[in-house]
Amino acid sequence: MVGRESWRQRSAMLGVLVLFSFFGAASAQLRYSISEELKEGSFVGNIAKDLGIELNVMKQRGFRIMSGSTESLFKVNENDGVLYANQKIDREQVCKESSVCLINLKTVLENPLEIHYVTVEITDLNDHSPTFPEKTKRLEISESALPGAKYQLQNAYDPDGGTNSVQQYKISQNDHFRLEIKDRGRDGKTPILKLQKQLDREAKGSHKLVLTAIDGGTPPKSGTVEIFIDVLDVNDNMPVFTKDTYSAVLQENAPVGTTVIQVNATDLDDGSNGEVIYSFGTDVKDKFRELFDIDSVTGEIIVKGHVDFEEQDSYDIDVQASDKGSIPFRTDKSVIIKIGDINDNPPEIEVASLSNSGINGKIISEPALTSEKIISVFVSDTNDNSPEFSLSPYTFYINENNPPGASVFSVRASDRDEGDNALISYHILRSAGHENKVTSFLNINSENGDILALKSFDFEMLKTFQFQVVATDSGAPSLSSNVTVNVFILDQNDNTPVILYPLSSNGSAEGVEEIPRNVNAGHLVTKVRAYDADIGYNGWLLFSLQEVTDHSLFGLDRYTGQIRTLRSFTETDEAEHKLVILVKDNGNVSLSATATVIVKLVEPKEAFAAADVKSAAKLDEDDNVTFYLMITLGSVSVLFLISIIVLIAMQCSKSTDYTSKYLQETNYDGTLCHSIQYRSGDKRYMLVGPRMSIGSTIVPGSHANTLVLPDRRRASEEVRSTI
Ligand SMILES: *[C@@H]1O[C@H](CO)[C@@H](O)[C@H](O)[C@H]1NC(C)=O
Ligand SMILES: *[C@@H]1O[C@H](CO)[C@@H](O)[C@H](O)[C@H]1NC(C)=O
Ligand SMILES: *[C@@H]1O[C@H](CO)[C@@H](O)[C@H](O)[C@H]1NC(C)=O
Ligand SMILES: *[C@@H]1O[C@H](CO)[C@@H](O)[C@H](O)[C@H]1NC(C)=O
Repeated sequence: MVGRESWRQRSAMLGVLVLFSFFGAASAQLRYSISEELKEGSFVGNIAKDLGIELNVMKQRGFRIMSGSTESLFKVNENDGVLYANQKIDREQVCKESSVCLINLKTVLENPLEIHYVTVEITDLNDHSPTFPEKTKRLEISESALPGAKYQLQNAYDPDGGTNSVQQYKISQNDHFRLEIKDRGRDGKTPILKLQKQLDREAKGSHKLVLTAIDGGTPPKSGTVEIFIDVLDVNDNMPVFTKDTYSAVLQENAPVGTTVIQVNATDLDDGSNGEVIYSFGTDVKDKFRELFDIDSVTGEIIVKGHVDFEEQDSYDIDVQASDKGSIPFRTDKSVIIKIGDINDNPPEIEVASLSNSGINGKIISEPALTSEKIISVFVSDTNDNSPEFSLSPYTFYINENNPPGASVFSVRASDRDEGDNALISYHILRSAGHENKVTSFLNINSENGDILALKSFDFEMLKTFQFQVVATDSGAPSLSSNVTVNVFILDQNDNTPVILYPLSSNGSAEGVEEIPRNVNAGHLVTKVRAYDADIGYNGWLLFSLQEVTDHSLFGLDRYTGQIRTLRSFTETDEAEHKLVILVKDNGNVSLSATATVIVKLVEPKEAFAAADVKSAAKLDEDDNVTFYLMITLGSVSVLFLISIIVLIAMQCSKSTDYTSKYLQETNYDGTLCHSIQYRSGDKRYMLVGPRMSIGSTIVPGSHANTLVLPDRRRASEEVRSTI
């Protein structure tokens, strides 16, 4: 409030400024400048003095403004020769759209007639906020829309001119959208919503964003519109059977209409995309279809004909669940029906007569007749081998944001028996507890061991998990074995940097810093702090000055975000400086955020004490941070060296080693960052945090954020260069 008043006073003083005036025998031209919205009676200029007319001459001869459309805006006081504003002037009303607002007056001094031209410029005041045509806006976006899709939004309108018009737009923090601004010159700036990460209706069906338009006034004004986004469903989930295996025992001769078993599949999609119908697979034989039927709605398998154990004692039958999407998804599942024998057959007796061969049939000693016959003995298999997995344990690395419903990896087991004894079916061991939450998103193909992830993984939520797969053969009794599967999620650059400081009370990354005018070069003005939830290069933040009013005054440290003065201030330096800082991560496709710092130079006398205490406290805090940082860095380095030595020792003693090591460290250095290592066999994946790479030989690129360290000797060299 105080700021605005003093600004107005200054503008009024500016009004005194005579930009140019021509004096001629009969006419002269004056030009004044005043701010709009000054109250009635405000001083515009001293006409008498500026034209060199004595006050008594002016009174005698009579001085007036010639009538015209704008005459009512101003008035001349004949007693002091001053031009006043006759009413409050609204620039936007007087001048409409034009960028420079000039009002031309003709004044007359009578006897003899003298005409003077006076031009008054009405300068713009930021007296309007940007407004959007609507308070809320609804958008419908299909979940199949790909990253990069653009949705144009409506411009905000601000009647103020020049820099007081709409200058920028901001969108509220969110995971899926970013804002692009299209500059259309005189037609203003248009905000465009750009999809950055694919939507998933099954994860979140609607999104709310707030779009803010900000003008360039001092102080700036803003206006908002709420954007509601409804995510439209596409058929991107397949039906999933609620059980891994279905089997039932049915007594032979069961009456028609008996329910044998009920299968159940669910589909996460909406509407008909999520409605499931059941049928027998296309390969199911007619003979079976005569005996059994399946209810397409309930999934019940029902007896339809005469079931006879003596004809067949078990059935392995394909059941299909299909959704009703326009391009339907189908899932197959085999159902095993064992038929129980009941005593429904009378015994049958076979009698074979023994032929009598007499004396010739007896074997006597001289002359002996011998005969030879090769008898093949077929050894029938018994189920004495359990299935064996090709690896134990399995370790998989998968990128986060994997497409849901796709196969991510697979396990295989083999069995040395034959026939049914070697026929393997797989299922995931589901236990109660936390791990179960993860495995419920996994589905295994019971026949080939392919594992599907029904959801995308999010590295920021889950970095690693473990589960068990059981392989069972079909022998009677069956044998089974289990294997542990370790899954490591790899990070992708899907998080935008978040500014932690400066932050104004309304959540925008803006701050005002006051520093005394007499500080020396190198004075710490402030430190921009930011955080990125990704790790490695994806979370390594660099700072740069995107906009600054005077390049010779402020310097920004690329790595720490500290803003320091480059030289001491002079009398001619402006009292206020605006710095826009760009914070960018180092991902393959990097993401960024901006922060605005307004630096105000205050007179040392009034602000000295306060500023001194503040900056001392700040330095103190900074010293503390540096001290803890040194301790942390020191201990981390020692631990790191020890681990490297232990690793080298282990590598030397063991050539192949399938254990996976996973360690995480978090450090804090103005930017928060992580570094994580994965190790598998003789490959080592290292995800680096920000400070590690400065001055080292690591180059961003290929594996996004993953460095494959090729051999042990080089790995240790690299470590030495980074510490
Ligand atoms: C199928 O499974 C779902 C989810 O477990 C359950 O809500 C539904 O009631 C089941 N349907 C039948 C017919 O059992
Ligand atoms: C997994 O197999 C091991 C032996 O290989 C056995 O001791 C363990 O009980 C099995 N676990 C389950 C859950 O079947
Ligand atoms: C937030 O507040 C700051 C001052 O604290 C102001 O400059 C800025 O325009 C405001 N931004 C929004 C989006 O309201
Ligand atoms: C990452 O960069 C490499 C080359 O630098 C490029 O081949 C690859 O397509 C990029 N990945 C993405 C996701 O843009």
